[in-house]
Amino acid sequence: ARKVLFDTDPGCDDAVMLAAALGHDAIDVVGLTTVCGNTTVENTTRNARAILELGGYDVPVARGCARPLVDELTTAEWIHGAGGIRGDLPYPSGDVGDEHAADAIVRHAREHGGDLTIAAVGPLTNLALALAMEPALPDIVDDIYVMGGAALAAGNVTPVAEANFHNDPAAASRVVQDASPTLVGLDVTNDATISFERIESYEARGGVLGTVADWLRYPADALDARETGPSIHDAAVLADIVDPDTLDFADYYCEIDTTGGPSHGSVVCDQHGVYDEAPNAAVALDIDVERYRDVVAAGLSGYATH
Ligand code: BDR
Ligand code: CA
Repeated sequence: ARKVLFDTDPGCDDAVMLAAALGHDAIDVVGLTTVCGNTTVENTTRNARAILELGGYDVPVARGCARPLVDELTTAEWIHGAGGIRGDLPYPSGDVGDEHAADAIVRHAREHGGDLTIAAVGPLTNLALALAMEPALPDIVDDIYVMGGAALAAGNVTPVAEANFHNDPAAASRVVQDASPTLVGLDVTNDATISFERIESYEARGGVLGTVADWLRYPADALDARETGPSIHDAAVLADIVDPDTLDFADYYCEIDTTGGPSHGSVVCDQHGVYDEAPNAAVALDIDVERYRDVVAAGLSGYATH
């Protein structure tokens, strides 16, 4: 199984992805680190622990940044639900330890070396700090996946910017400059939908899958709602880690706009090579939706029966 550390801001699509990752045979979740984004870091940390508790998993959680590096935080409870997540969740008592998420990222990278994949599916604040502390991070680990940006597609929080990057453009810029990430943005995640039939079948089953169905229903009113079902953005990352034939990539040179103008937080993707710079990101451009759905369904079934 592939060892993966998830840096996350649950968040309903994060929750679906985490549940599917925990339940999937091909994935060994070595840790979770939390960040502010969809809601406060107190809430994302509590939600992460509740997702583990609901499935009966014992995975270490480290709380991370409470604010973006430079910008003000914009949360999205209006999409994800009060407290940042929908559905009835058991909230574990106690708290996480003192280790900061950025320290935990560096520690896991050193411990698991080339076997570790980092999957960052929230604002990139923790990962940017980890890169500042350990610039060799990308060389130590196997891969760094990022859900964020809209390389060639339109944005979802401004006409050109995606939420995770727009929440912390300075951090996104650091990660794209330093980490040569595998970039999974709205170009493919808008199409990473789960069918309404599947959601209805989870609702009919109830129990743990009923709660998962509440998460899957989250973006019903969102701007990017698709006729084929809700886009579970973060789960596209998991699907490609499990089944590398899920996404197709092209290597491009990218920069993140941090200038504060109308395209603040957007990806400037040099599709035609006009800058004559070496590529610094593998940019996902196409998704095999059936493969994606198979990974998510297998993982969620494992989570529900754990
Ligand atoms: C991303 O933003 C968040 O709201 C979601 O959890 C996802 O990570 C999509 O733009
Ligand atoms: Ca997220």
